[in-house]
Amino acid sequence: MIADSASVHPSAVCDEGCRIGAHTRVWHFVHVAAGASIGSGCVLGQGVYVAPTARVGDGVRLQNNVSVYDGVTLEDDVFCGPSAVFTNVARPRAHVSRKDAFEPTLVGRGATLGANCTIVCGVTIGRFAFVAAGAVVTRDVANFARVMGVPARQVGWVCACGEALASGDAPECSVCGLRYVERDGAITEAT
Ligand SMILES: CC(C)(COP(=O)(O)OP(=O)(O)OC[C@H]1O[C@@H](n2cnc3c(N)ncnc32)[C@H](O)[C@@H]1OP(=O)(O)O)[C@@H](O)C(=O)NCCC(=O)NCCS
Ligand SMILES: [Zn+2]
Repeated sequence: MIADSASVHPSAVCDEGCRIGAHTRVWHFVHVAAGASIGSGCVLGQGVYVAPTARVGDGVRLQNNVSVYDGVTLEDDVFCGPSAVFTNVARPRAHVSRKDAFEPTLVGRGATLGANCTIVCGVTIGRFAFVAAGAVVTRDVANFARVMGVPARQVGWVCACGEALASGDAPECSVCGLRYVERDGAITEAT
């Protein structure tokens, strides 16, 4: 079902049985497969593909040419930069069917995936984590972690607003003022 308030460009193909929420905007040459679920207030840029079992929350932005394959879940407010790449089979062979071997990928609420990064399947990317452009993520990424490079390594923490946080056991964002507590190698919002 496509919400009445969603806008879908005439060149997009939204298969019967997909779900597109209120006020979501679907741009040129997008394909949303039957069964795919996309929340409200999302933006799907040119050339985006969403597979039948993919789950896309509310407020998600998929920039041009992002394919969200089966097994991928994007929680609310995830940002995927242009040409960010998901995968769902770890050891693909053209002549061997590996449809039962899909490994799920979960991207937590508010996380950012930079342009042209690659997410190797089977990982969880934490809430508000920030994956730099071009990084190759091969392992789980902690909530609020900033990761970079190939393979991606954690280089620090990032605020929910996107600014890097200085290290310390009580980081505070110099831009928005949000405060955090670091404990046992993880950070959480200060209460
Ligand atoms: C991660 C990011 C925010 C930069 O973070 P930053 O800490 O401000 O980075 P800086 O520019 O201060 O650079 C710090 C170091 O990291 C390196 N670096 C920066 N971005 C990098 C990246 N994407 N991959 C690898 N190294 C990177 C810099 O070269 C620099 O290295 P040096 O200290 O040896 O000189 C930025 O690189 C990025 O990827 N942004 C996402 C952009 C994007 O994809 N937008 C999509 C919407 S269009
Ligand atoms: Zn902040």
